[in-house]
Amino acid sequence: MNDSFILDIVQRPRRLRKSHAIRSLVQETWLRTDDFIQPIFVVEGDGEPIEIESLPGIKRLPIKHLLRECEELSALDIRAIALFPAFIPDAKKNILGSEALNTNSFFLKAIRSVKEHIPELAVITDIALDPYTTHGHDGILNKQGTDVDNDKTVAILCAMALLHAEAGVDFVAPSDMMDGRIGAIRTTLDSQDFTTTGIIAYSSKFNSAYYGPFREAVGSAPSAQLGNLSKKTYQLNPANRNEAIYESILDQAEGADVLMVKPAGLYLDIIRDIKNEISIPLAAYQVTGEYAQIYAASQRGWLDLGRAREESLMAIKRAGADMIFTYFAKEQAQAIRMNNLSSG
Ligand code: PBG
Repeated sequence: MNDSFILDIVQRPRRLRKSHAIRSLVQETWLRTDDFIQPIFVVEGDGEPIEIESLPGIKRLPIKHLLRECEELSALDIRAIALFPAFIPDAKKNILGSEALNTNSFFLKAIRSVKEHIPELAVITDIALDPYTTHGHDGILNKQGTDVDNDKTVAILCAMALLHAEAGVDFVAPSDMMDGRIGAIRTTLDSQDFTTTGIIAYSSKFNSAYYGPFREAVGSAPSAQLGNLSKKTYQLNPANRNEAIYESILDQAEGADVLMVKPAGLYLDIIRDIKNEISIPLAAYQVTGEYAQIYAASQRGWLDLGRAREESLMAIKRAGADMIFTYFAKEQAQAIRMNNLSSG
């Protein structure tokens, strides 16, 4: 090859990849700590945090430790957490999930403590019955046990949402996928003057294998114990795009403040389509299975944890998510802070 060979081209996109400085100038998507919502599992009592085997780095926290964790998150400029109750004792579970409506539950106490101690931190809670039911379904069953009874479930979820609103949450997040629950919850909250309590609708919640570690973490019935009745009867078929858009449009019309796609990384196309279709903010939920697979591979030395973590979150943001529920929130916030210090 002739050493002086020069292609006859004007466009050389590599010019914009020449140095860190230039790459930064043209970077189109940025991760910020304000983007993240840290999910946290809360347990009753005043013991020590309890590890979760499939989620290294994530622990189930008793209230005292929860408050300390919230202070640390807030100091890292994370603005929001999503709380989940874990390890409801079997003695408190039943087919109706009635512990969800216990006004003296440790979970409501946990919500109140967080809002009292760190009021600036936005608190989001899940509205669904699966941590409280013996069968592990998100709602209550019909008499024959052949289906989740939509309307009776919605009535309970409304009462549950009201309790959480009274305890001070900023958003309730119905994750049950029952029809009509967003409108019913909005009406219930408004009728009791909770007009400023928002709703983040799990509007496109797919029936995913990637929730596996969540069920271990919460101690809810694994899918094997759900018997013949599958969550497929309420969660979306992973094959369906139009249905996800339809659910999103319905939830927006019923009064949701924010919509959600869940899981996130496997559904980037859905995130983008919904972002293009709707005008309210869109959340994406990077679920336990997504976290677990990145972590497990990196523990074996097969992936670089920091880079895989950042890339997975960047992809979700680039796809169109305005906010991301992620178990990586704290770690990524720490990485962003270190990065700012080293380049600032
Ligand atoms: C319960 C609920 C689930 C998740 C959030 N809320 C599990 C399920 O529907 O089975 C999954 C979250 C995760 O895996 O990170 N309604």
